[in-house]
Amino acid sequence: MGLNNNSVERQMEKPVVQHYSKIMIVLHWLTALCVLIAWLLSEGGPKILQNPPIWHFAFGLAVLVLVVSRLIARLAGGTPPADPRNPALLRFAAKAGHATLYAFLFAMPISGWYAASALGIPVTVLGVTLPALTAPVQQPPGLIAELHSTGGTVLLALAGLHALMAIYHQFVLKDGTLRKMSPAE
Ligand code: HEM
Ligand code: HEM
Repeated sequence: MGLNNNSVERQMEKPVVQHYSKIMIVLHWLTALCVLIAWLLSEGGPKILQNPPIWHFAFGLAVLVLVVSRLIARLAGGTPPADPRNPALLRFAAKAGHATLYAFLFAMPISGWYAASALGIPVTVLGVTLPALTAPVQQPPGLIAELHSTGGTVLLALAGLHALMAIYHQFVLKDGTLRKMSPAE
């Protein structure tokens, strides 16, 4: 009987998991895929002048298109609330972590585009050549290019930490976080 009451109480405590909108879920997973592919196809050093990694550019620029779309969808539709049972500091850390990820999702493609321009490599997507963001310089291409190259790996590490936190929320705190971003109902 006591056990029964406990489980009923726990049942009542369980938060109703609200999902991100379908469009936010699709954009999240497409972004994660494009970041991973852009990172895998990245190249540095003098050899990229002879053979520019056009697919690195294309998947990297797709991240920019996806993140802009995502922020518009976010402004229009909002996001599900954080579980109020989690400590305020953890909720703040999640918000700060997400904001940092968003900052990288903007900064990486723009700094990469700038680095390509500094190297004098035209950035062409679907047959359209984008305008250069800066005049070409002598090698090395400069600080922004260096920040871009290091930033790519930092972004991947942050995303890994973010994934671990999502798994911790789902399986240790059992607050349904992963389900919020899952395409399944
Ligand atoms: C490059 C890879 C990834 C990037 C850039 C990324 C980025 C983000 C961002 C910016 C948010 C905040 C969404 C918002 O509130 O507008 C988010 C939410 C989320 N992500 Fe990721 N993510 C990545 C990979 C992953 C992976 C691999 C997982 C799962 C293992 C994951 C699980 C989640 C979950 C569950 C949320 C919702 C968190 C919540 O609202 O409490 N993400 N992601
Ligand atoms: C989220 C998107 C992106 C990620 C994660 C990313 C990641 C990286 C990484 C890790 C490197 C270093 C590779 C190495 O040194 O072996 C790199 C280099 C580079 N990326 Fe990206 N990149 C992204 C988007 C872009 C875009 C959109 C462009 C251009 C339109 C671009 C252009 C470049 C260029 C020109 C370099 C060489 C820089 C140099 O040698 O100093 N990247 N990128």
